[in-house]
Amino acid sequence: MTLQLGDVAPDFTAETTMGTIDFHEWLGGSWGIIFSHPADFTPVCTTELGATAKLKSEFEKRDVKVVALSVDPLDSHHEWIKDINETQNTEVNFPIIADPDQQVAQLYGMIHPNANDKLTVRSVYVIGPDKKIKLTITYPASTGRNFNELLRVIDSLQLTANYSVATPANWQHGEDVVIAPAIRNEDIPAKFPKGHKEVKPYLRTTPQPNL
Ligand code: BEZ
Repeated sequence: MTLQLGDVAPDFTAETTMGTIDFHEWLGGSWGIIFSHPADFTPVCTTELGATAKLKSEFEKRDVKVVALSVDPLDSHHEWIKDINETQNTEVNFPIIADPDQQVAQLYGMIHPNANDKLTVRSVYVIGPDKKIKLTITYPASTGRNFNELLRVIDSLQLTANYSVATPANWQHGEDVVIAPAIRNEDIPAKFPKGHKEVKPYLRTTPQPNL
């Protein structure tokens, strides 16, 4: 079964490098990211987990809890973390799920058999405080992810969850946003007191409302 946007993120109990977690309970009322990488002791994954660790304060600012996963066992994760810390000049500060039986990987469709029938691809799920899936992205093993892009997307998700706006292509925090098509022109001044521009009747922009 493919997980789709709006589905409840499957709950599970799993061993991690920071102890056993019950996923939904661990998330609490926070946003969450669960992401898989193909295997421990591989070069791209080493850089990805290091990059994630370095963004700890950015994830915290946005109230996002991060957890990684591969189908390697716990002792392997613990040994590999030493290498990540050493080579990436950081300290892995988030849990890594040990999923040697593929229990969680299968629940989240992280194994794509036509790519590799034994290892997880680079899946990303962003989960909202309501435990529903807000974003999925899948990368192949050969392409490391841009974790700044994940932060950018989370900024958009958190903004658009609270305001009737959408974010245009390549939007970055602080830039103008698009007013949702459902908002009538006459309602704009009250909803968006910072003003707006009408480029076309269907393309109306306003300064980012939560700044
Ligand atoms: C890596 O993380 O470097 C990697 C893992 C699996 C296949 C290719 C690259």
